[in-house]
Amino acid sequence: MKCVIAIDGPAGAGKSTVAKLVAEKLGYTYIDTGAMYRAVAWKTLQHSKEATDEDILRAVQDIDVQLTCTESGTRVTVDNTDVTREIRTPEVTHIVSRVAALGPVREKMVELQRAMAADGAVVMDGRDIGTNVLPNADVKIFLTASVEERARRRYDEMKEKGYAVDFDELKQEIAARDKQDSERAISPLRQAEDAVLLDSTSLTIDEVAARIMKLSE
Ligand code: DC
Repeated sequence: MKCVIAIDGPAGAGKSTVAKLVAEKLGYTYIDTGAMYRAVAWKTLQHSKEATDEDILRAVQDIDVQLTCTESGTRVTVDNTDVTREIRTPEVTHIVSRVAALGPVREKMVELQRAMAADGAVVMDGRDIGTNVLPNADVKIFLTASVEERARRRYDEMKEKGYAVDFDELKQEIAARDKQDSERAISPLRQAEDAVLLDSTSLTIDEVAARIMKLSE
């Protein structure tokens, strides 16, 4: 039995939905590392709408980020405030790639992530899990899909949450985030050499989950 599963890939590829499902089926803990960078972005915006690098570094200095698995999904708190919904707003999404590119932010988050995975039985998703956070993971997946399809999924998701979103704007934002996440100097988004590539463009969530389950046997 493989106990540590790492899932990386670009925004909207279906990582969190699939990771949650696989974790549920295996009775493992799901760790959403993107939520942790979002938490830092949210805290920064509480103090400054501009969110300069200095503001971000100040916010991360003494931040307490907690992820709790609940029946209804992962609950995220920052310094004891529940920010589960707030970290998904367009304002947070807009600055989060910049937040995640800063060395001190990554160092702190990666340390927390490694501690969370130390006992095994985890499914962790993000951008650098297989390459940097958990290089010894038992199963590594690089999950991707076309930009068009990823934008469509995010569009449906945002609409369902009641946000007025423009499809083309969303697609541009996703493409810009892909670029920023893949070209940053520290731990950029890339497929680990030993990761299995899965393209979810024309696969259902259940099909992707089934392939990952098979690799975990
Ligand atoms: O998966 P997401 O959209 O919630 O991630 C938010 C941002 O955090 C994303 O733009 C890239 C960054 N991120 C990262 O750099 N490393 C991770 N392990 C997870 C997310």
